[in-house]
Amino acid sequence: MNTKNVKAYGTVSSESALKQFKILRREVTENDIEIDILYCGVCHSDLHFAKNDWGMTVYPVVPGHEIVGRVSKIGAGVSKHSIGDIVAVGCLVDSCRSCNNCKNDLEQYCPEWVGTYGGHDKHLDTNTHGGYSEIIVVDESFVLSVPENLDLAGIAPVLCAGITTWSPLRHWNVNKDSKVAVVGLGGLGHMAIKLAHALGAHVTLFSRSTNKIEDAKALGAHEVIISTDESQMENAMGAFDLIIDTVPYEHDLNPYVGTLNINGTLVIVGYLGPIDPMLVTVPMIMGRKSVAGSLIGGITETQELLDFCGKHNITSDVEVIKMQEINAAYERMLKSDVKYRFVIDMKSL
Ligand SMILES: NC(=O)c1ccc[n+]([C@@H]2O[C@H](COP(=O)([O-])OP(=O)(O)OC[C@H]3O[C@@H](n4cnc5c(N)ncnc54)[C@H](OP(=O)(O)O)[C@@H]3O)[C@@H](O)[C@H]2O)c1
Ligand SMILES: [Zn+2]
Ligand SMILES: [Zn+2]
Repeated sequence: MNTKNVKAYGTVSSESALKQFKILRREVTENDIEIDILYCGVCHSDLHFAKNDWGMTVYPVVPGHEIVGRVSKIGAGVSKHSIGDIVAVGCLVDSCRSCNNCKNDLEQYCPEWVGTYGGHDKHLDTNTHGGYSEIIVVDESFVLSVPENLDLAGIAPVLCAGITTWSPLRHWNVNKDSKVAVVGLGGLGHMAIKLAHALGAHVTLFSRSTNKIEDAKALGAHEVIISTDESQMENAMGAFDLIIDTVPYEHDLNPYVGTLNINGTLVIVGYLGPIDPMLVTVPMIMGRKSVAGSLIGGITETQELLDFCGKHNITSDVEVIKMQEINAAYERMLKSDVKYRFVIDMKSL
């Protein structure tokens, strides 16, 4: 297979800072698209992966799965995109394409799904490497179209933060009669507020941070509940049809279950791992409530979201950084000090 060396930014161990090194990319094959990366969003999953928080990282890691760029080369069999098109790649670059989940546009639940980074690259027999790089080569089936009216840096976070919150909003049929709450105002949280608002729902934010109330309302939240204030939590008992919990670290879910209405669902999208303190089943049984999880979204659903964003003029609120600022950005993300997503201007690499 023909390959080339390209510049990338990543890390070689959980303790080291991210730095520049070279990685291999394949030359386009029949159905491939080569993309010059213009912008790449910075997801909290990038940080979890670089630091091996989930215990599954194989180094070196090149993070980045909120990718927007321009098509620079196409394989002979490509029909969906042309050279010069502005396109996007999210968290998935391949799947088996034949299992039931793939056939039902749920590639993210395919047992053989290939993550944009940290997956198995069947072409090169290495790890896949993500968007903190000059170019990426992806099968056209996993390359999305970007609406022309949207800011390119602002659209990048839609590829993960957006779709991860959109998918549960759609799966649980959120509409103008729904009462939705979002836990945590970060990258995912701020997209969840914008998208639930655009679907017409009544939206509430649960936050630890008293300094985010004005911002949350400007983003489209009708109310903000400070989650550390017991009386505010008490007042919200039984209020919500759907809660999307974006908090990245272990925390007590029981107070949020209490704020669900009968038949309500708490969807965990943030924290991956065992729950401590344990879940108490009593309020779930007494109110037919559910606690569920959700993983990103499929390719068709992600295109649907991009088109929805184009129609409703929705983008992420971003702070554009240079590639060399990534280590400081990770430190700031851990302190929730970003409004509300870092996006790397890849020209800086
Ligand atoms: N399920 C999926 O498919 C999927 C996809 C993408 C990302 N994720 C995961 O979703 C999580 C959120 O990602 P993100 O990019 O939105 O992160 P983020 O921008 O860092 O936002 C997380 C927010 O959670 C709140 N929070 C509460 N307790 C916290 C704590 N101990 N430390 C830090 N923040 C805390 C903060 O909001 P307040 O200040 O308002 O409390 C913070 O802004 C990550 O764990 C990421 O890996 C999952
Ligand atoms: Zn992500
Ligand atoms: Zn499959």
